[in-house]
Amino acid sequence: MRESRRTFLKSGIAAAGSVSAGAIAGAATVAAGDVSERTAPGNAPHLEHSAAVTLEVNGQPVMLALDSRTSLLDALRDHLGLTGTKKGCNHGQCGACTVLLDGRRVLSCLTLAVQAQGRQITTIEGLARHPGALHPLQQAFIDRDALQCGYCTPGQILSGIGCIREGHAGSDAAIREAMSGNLCRCGAYANIVAAIRDVARRSASDVANDVPATGG
Ligand code: FES
Ligand code: FES
Repeated sequence: MRESRRTFLKSGIAAAGSVSAGAIAGAATVAAGDVSERTAPGNAPHLEHSAAVTLEVNGQPVMLALDSRTSLLDALRDHLGLTGTKKGCNHGQCGACTVLLDGRRVLSCLTLAVQAQGRQITTIEGLARHPGALHPLQQAFIDRDALQCGYCTPGQILSGIGCIREGHAGSDAAIREAMSGNLCRCGAYANIVAAIRDVARRSASDVANDVPATGG
């Protein structure tokens, strides 16, 4: 049976929300393995840049041994396997890498992992409370067909949550302005604004309560 694009994307969003604690724990173990690799004599030059970083990612504490120059984006994707956060430009120009840091949206490609030490990070994988229970804005994106290829979507959703929380979703013009840092090459802007507008009709506190504790 042929799957519709909407069905396929819905299952993809749900799957992103079901990354298990074990997956993160496993990734953290791999990262710990990197330390011994870096401490091997042949890798001595890396030592001067190594740092132990403790993050709280989607409600789970994780400890990583990283090169201190590692971006939060690379820490999430390459060390924790949380590839829902997308790398677009890697230069702060597209918004694809947006995550919440202590409840506020940041560009993870321009944030060093060490800057997130001890802070709460929410990624797209942490929005759903459990598989099948999407965050209202995830559901609104599906209902409004606010995506085509889906590459920008995790960043759009995290940024949309930030936009609502910041009180910048009072009108379509305000939403467009607040979301102007999130580019969509597929041009799904009208439906993205509609999805955010739908959810913004609920109180900002309701939305905040739908984000797990990591959302701040
Ligand atoms: S990947 Fe971070 S802004 Fe483009
Ligand atoms: S849906 Fe394709 S880039 Fe936004």
